[in-house]
Amino acid sequence: MSRKDEPEVEVAPRDVDAHMADLVAAAQAVRANAHAPYSRFAVGAAVLDEQGRIHAGCNVENAAYPQGWCAEASALAVMVAAGGRRVLAVAVCAVADQPVTPCGGCRQKLREFAADDCPIWVADLHSLRATHTLGELLPFSFGPQYLLP
Ligand code: THU
Repeated sequence: MSRKDEPEVEVAPRDVDAHMADLVAAAQAVRANAHAPYSRFAVGAAVLDEQGRIHAGCNVENAAYPQGWCAEASALAVMVAAGGRRVLAVAVCAVADQPVTPCGGCRQKLREFAADDCPIWVADLHSLRATHTLGELLPFSFGPQYLLP
């Protein structure tokens, strides 16, 4: 996608990986604040924006179950509220037997702000467990390019 009003990306692609440790740490830390009394499945997520800033969020469940939302949605909301417009990398932290990748809905939410090559770092409380790209997790995706000039 190339649009005149695309934000200036201040982080060079080759420098994105250098943010991995900080991004994973942010996802691990924010997971502690998850409101997940029903599933007891706490998730933390963090996104790196085009200015090199990190925004973190956790899942927020609700007694009316469908009203809850995922950690990735929280992190994106924090980024947008702070003026961030591009996601250069994502970290997710949860504790399970298998590495926890973003749910389908969150893959699409991330797609609004991230390119196919955006890394998705999946961690537990102790370490990085898997690395994917958004394009691997959401191939042939529908994105802003279909709607914007
Ligand atoms: N959850 C997330 O926060 N992110 C995901 O990508 C997967 C699921 C949350 C939603 C719900 O609060 C709990 O995990 C169990 O599904």
